[in-house]
Amino acid sequence: MRKKIVAGNWKMNLGYQEGISLFSEVANMVKDEVIGNQQIIVCSPFIHLHSIASLTNEHKNVFVGAQNIHQEDAGAYTGEVSAKQVRSTGAAYVILGHSERRAYFGESDELLAKKVNIALTHNLVPIFCIGETKEERESGEFFDVIKKQLEKGVFHLSESDFSKIILAYEPVWAIGTGLTASPEQAQEVHAFIRKEVEAKYGSAVADETSILYGGSCNPKNAPDLFSQPDIDGGLIGGASLKSRDFTDIVKVFN
Ligand code: PGA
Repeated sequence: MRKKIVAGNWKMNLGYQEGISLFSEVANMVKDEVIGNQQIIVCSPFIHLHSIASLTNEHKNVFVGAQNIHQEDAGAYTGEVSAKQVRSTGAAYVILGHSERRAYFGESDELLAKKVNIALTHNLVPIFCIGETKEERESGEFFDVIKKQLEKGVFHLSESDFSKIILAYEPVWAIGTGLTASPEQAQEVHAFIRKEVEAKYGSAVADETSILYGGSCNPKNAPDLFSQPDIDGGLIGGASLKSRDFTDIVKVFN
């Protein structure tokens, strides 16, 4: 049975102490809520990774992830952080392909494929984001856009590597805008993504792939979104910065 996952993306928010307090609060609030095949992943800025990863030891099914890595192993890349360094903090996941990285930092599909590879080499699980812009949705070409992002970003992987990754459908027009894809719109794309995965890797792999929805997900809309057959949880931005909201989203699966 595929994993049900609620992942938080803190983005570039929270000072060191604020992050530790928020994580401790969330970890305590969710400790009896994360059951069975459910997982919580908190993706923090680099500065929090080691401290919050040490706190996860007491919490089964609660994990820590980064929001970016460099595509090379090591070297003269001032200001960058490698996959190996992230893994050494105790973090086990990394968000890759987020639309903010694609748009503001010019991350191409080709670069992202390299980041996916280096993440897997160092035992970091990519949470790989895909999704269309408003114009791409309105012009109706969004299925093609998503297919291309999958093909270029992750479909080069072997079956065993692909089986490790998590996908996140994040329509760019819904991120941080308060506009959410309707459960039907999201389900339509999730089903499409699963079909593409099936065509490439077969139905056993497709059935086991967790596909998260992201984009203005909150405690109010999460129940309808998460009850869709191909939506396996959420990647939560704004609402992950409030312990009550994030915990309420986690509880949707219970
Ligand atoms: P949002 O962000 O929940 O604030 O829309 C989601 C994301 O960017 O991952």
